Amino acid sequence: MTNKHIVITRKGGPEVLELIEGEVREPEPGQVRVRIQATGVAFADVLMRYGVYPGTPKPPFTPGYDIAGTIDKLGAGVTGFEVGQPVVALTVRGGYAEFICLPADELVAAPAGLDPAESASIVLNYVTAYQLLHRFAEAKRGERVLVHGAAGGVGTALLQLGQLAGLEMYGTASKAKHPVVADAGAAPIDYRAESFRERLAELAPGGVDVVFDGVGGANFWHSYRSLRAGGRLVAYGVQAAIHGSRASIPTLAASMTLLGLLRAIPDGRRARFYSVADEKRKHPDEFRKDLGEVLRLLADGAIRPVIAQRLPLAEASRAHELIENARVAGKIVLVCNGTDAAATTAGV
Ligand SMILES: NC(=O)c1ccc[n+]([C@@H]2O[C@H](COP(=O)([O-])OP(=O)(O)OC[C@H]3O[C@@H](n4cnc5c(N)ncnc54)[C@H](OP(=O)(O)O)[C@@H]3O)[C@@H](O)[C@H]2O)c1
Repeated sequence: MTNKHIVITRKGGPEVLELIEGEVREPEPGQVRVRIQATGVAFADVLMRYGVYPGTPKPPFTPGYDIAGTIDKLGAGVTGFEVGQPVVALTVRGGYAEFICLPADELVAAPAGLDPAESASIVLNYVTAYQLLHRFAEAKRGERVLVHGAAGGVGTALLQLGQLAGLEMYGTASKAKHPVVADAGAAPIDYRAESFRERLAELAPGGVDVVFDGVGGANFWHSYRSLRAGGRLVAYGVQAAIHGSRASIPTLAASMTLLGLLRAIPDGRRARFYSVADEKRKHPDEFRKDLGEVLRLLADGAIRPVIAQRLPLAEASRAHELIENARVAGKIVLVCNGTDAAATTAGV
């Protein structure tokens, strides 16, 4: 049996992604082989391709942060799962493939009948958003919250979960994506046309309680200055480090230094950095619990991931181009093994 998979062949632009056909691996004892139906495309995959994501191995390797699929084969000693059962996992790497072998404790059972593209879409983005809101910011009903990149994958997840939590929300996004932000219950701010700090000072005089910032660079400073006394900045990414198909290591380094300085200012505001991969490693039980909770919300129809495009696995390089140039609102999902790529919505 063959396993088509995408490989980052060397550091560089979207053109370094290649579709390769190899043999399907047998699961080792304690592992499960998953037949992947859908895998999310994350901004972190773009950073890995440029070789600037923490812990990126040397190419060649297969990217792919999250997957949904069905169990194809159980390795020796695995109990509690059965062949054909739908599952999801935060793989961090390896998801852009038809098959993957994972330790059984990496998998979480998904309720039957869900759309695999929607299941894959919630693993990274919604667990990140859930933990940002509830474990890091500990946001309370009625608090004022600013979400940057509000029409993006994590941004739309933050808005949907924030709406369920009863937050008053503001979201930065380019103008064409404002309907996505407004539909999710937030006041959109066109950060490209005006200073978000000035606009926010009018909308939320006195400052906001929480800012979620995956943009980085000087944005961390402006976000921090938008907080009321006692407010919390939760940083979780440095999107500003990618400009015109190039990754800027100085921007990455300067962003983390700035965050360190902000943490040291004794003015009652707080600043922290969140990493889903670190949280999963340090608190695996919390991770599984939170993933179970967002799957339940999906099955109940309480959340609905915004899927910008469904593309066949072979079009991974086009997916990267779209993400890198912020051309889509929501999540891009690669599908394979017979999952339908036809239900595609247009980019922006
Ligand atoms: N720490 C973690 O565990 C973790 C987990 C998941 C993701 N992340 C990080 O979170 C960030 C967002 O990821 P994502 O998957 O949501 O990306 P995404 O789907 O590509 O969306 C991000 C959106 O942010 C917007 N944006 C870009 N620059 C901006 C700026 N200066 N101000 C406001 N918005 C801006 C862009 O849309 P417009 O400019 O057109 O509005 C872009 O589409 C990335 O840095 C990613 O690496 C971190």
